[in-house]
Amino acid sequence: MMGRDRFLAAANLQPVDTTPVWFMRQAGRCLPEYRALRKQYSFMELAHTPELAVQATLMPVDRFGVDGAVLFADIMLPLEGMGVEFEIKPGVGPVIANPIRTMADVEALQVVGPEEGTPYVLEALTLLRHELGDRAAVLGFAGAPWTLACYLVDGRPSKEYPKTKAMMYGEPRLWHALMEKLTQVTELYVQGQAEAGADVVQLFDSWLGLVDSDSYRAHVLPYTARIFSALRQSVPTIHFSTGTTHLLAAIRDTRPNMVSVDWRIRIEDAWDILGDEIGIQGNLDPAMMFAPWSAIEAAASDILTQTRGRNGHIFNLGHGIHPETDPGKLLELTQFVHNFRS
Ligand code: CP3
Repeated sequence: MMGRDRFLAAANLQPVDTTPVWFMRQAGRCLPEYRALRKQYSFMELAHTPELAVQATLMPVDRFGVDGAVLFADIMLPLEGMGVEFEIKPGVGPVIANPIRTMADVEALQVVGPEEGTPYVLEALTLLRHELGDRAAVLGFAGAPWTLACYLVDGRPSKEYPKTKAMMYGEPRLWHALMEKLTQVTELYVQGQAEAGADVVQLFDSWLGLVDSDSYRAHVLPYTARIFSALRQSVPTIHFSTGTTHLLAAIRDTRPNMVSVDWRIRIEDAWDILGDEIGIQGNLDPAMMFAPWSAIEAAASDILTQTRGRNGHIFNLGHGIHPETDPGKLLELTQFVHNFRS
């Protein structure tokens, strides 16, 4: 099988010849060729220029032979079209100029589609689909409303996102107005990505682990579910989060095709909760890449043994690659997964 077919078969819970694999943050600072490109251009210049975004996206596909190519972009980009001013500070992350705190702030957010807000993302996806052929699946992605709200309300990366939670707990009208707008923009954004060339869409809810399950069901889940529902007739979907072992049953109810789980839970235990109709992505600890190869191999082998004989597994790390990771080990891991015979 070619990488694209292998990836899509797994995402649709169909049989594969071998387990498909890709890595979150594969197109980034762990690659010397990416760091060289970043000497010439800022992150935003790369993301805004389709030819350069495609070049960065293809780097890990060429180097590792992964089955999925995640578009070089960022979850913050659609916020530009909404009129939000932000910066991506190296080593820090997204910082918002004027955090969202009042109904007037929410009302000022514009609901625009990607043709108007982020045309460069659509163009990059179309170029990428053309460039890749059947070598790898093209992954589009977006931030989930909760995680986008964390950045918008707290205004910068935080361990707890207390201002966001305060709004969710204490100002329900304001919270739902904000989540409604983020959901509308994200629905349009991911639908546009699927039309432009994305084969699969992953929704990143990176900070979801901070939420308890009752609050999740009441204040977050319905919005996430709407985004998956908007894609149901077009492309398979992946829900991503970390630290959410306590939320897996609720995440299942957002109805993605696959759920990405982190290293805190064994895949076989996650599958007991998620049920047979949902695939699983994961779940090696990215820090495992700093251990000797023998430990990496044992951990990867354990994952592949748990998923043996079951359709619907995509191998990945439980979260993004640490920038200091040795790319040689990522190549070895990719080949190990592809050659694994239990
Ligand atoms: O291979 C890929 O995954 C590349 C595409 C990609 C990027 N960001 C590129 C990027 C994807 C899928 C993202 C998603 C993203 N962005 C998430 C969700 C994934 C996750 O890790 O949970 C989040 C939370 C963000 C917000 C964001 N943008 C952060 C936290 C950072 C890192 C800040 C830092 O310097 O440590 C960014 C910047 C960013 N996005 C970089 C890359 C390659 C680094 C930019 C650089 O080269 O300086």
